[in-house]
Amino acid sequence: MSELLDLALRVAARSARFLEDGWARREVVATKSSSTDIVTQMDQGSERLLVDHILAARPDDGIIGEEGSDRAGTTGVTWVIDPLDGTVNYLYGFPSWAVSVGVLVDGKPTYGVVHAPALRTVWHGTAGESAFANERPIRTGHVSELSSALLATGFGYEAGVRAIQGAIVAELLPRVRDIRRAGAAAVDMCWVAQGVLDGYFERGTHLWDRAAAMAICDGAGVRVGGFDGPAADRMTIATNPALFDELHDTLRALGADREYD
Ligand code: IPD
Repeated sequence: MSELLDLALRVAARSARFLEDGWARREVVATKSSSTDIVTQMDQGSERLLVDHILAARPDDGIIGEEGSDRAGTTGVTWVIDPLDGTVNYLYGFPSWAVSVGVLVDGKPTYGVVHAPALRTVWHGTAGESAFANERPIRTGHVSELSSALLATGFGYEAGVRAIQGAIVAELLPRVRDIRRAGAAAVDMCWVAQGVLDGYFERGTHLWDRAAAMAICDGAGVRVGGFDGPAADRMTIATNPALFDELHDTLRALGADREYD
């Protein structure tokens, strides 16, 4: 196994244990884009742990972290970390939350680990090669028609944006099998990689929400992209290759690509 992937697995496991052990002490210490976009002291502690352990092993790598630990590196390797994806779920004890550790090599999501203790699942993967859930190889599903697809999505934290996202989902709902909103983008994407879901789309995610899962998705045969190009904050779509265009074009037809944030 790559030295980078091995390190990603180890640091994610360490932070996941920290989050599990500290769950009873969780406390909201700040808000970000809105009053419901929260940070707990556990997000901050988990990010500190990740950064300390990564830099102890690889002091010259770059880091991009959700809670602000950004630093430039000199090696071409950048660690993109979400110390706690699904913070609201964690606060409530809803099990879909994870530590997400992605490794970009020359800017490309190459290795990923998504460690979800309350789901008892660790996904890991290498872009273009392979992906695993709890060490077992995974492959995305085969559903090729939107009308049969079980999709996941997510919503931003600002009320105005959510109202528009809700309207788009209302129009999409009669055209698909069903829609889930489980609250952690990295986990949703790994479920697509595993064939537990047929597809995922969301507007407004950040690189730290998706980098690790992108490598895992790639390793599992998922096509990940945005509107007419790579996945971006503007739109991330992840499905098996046969379903991608229909979901992409439908979201566009419903106006999901227009300016609204
Ligand atoms: C959030 C979750 C959520 C998604 C949001 C993300 P956070 O991450 O992944 O499912 O809908 O877009 O911001 O804030 O819990 O790390």
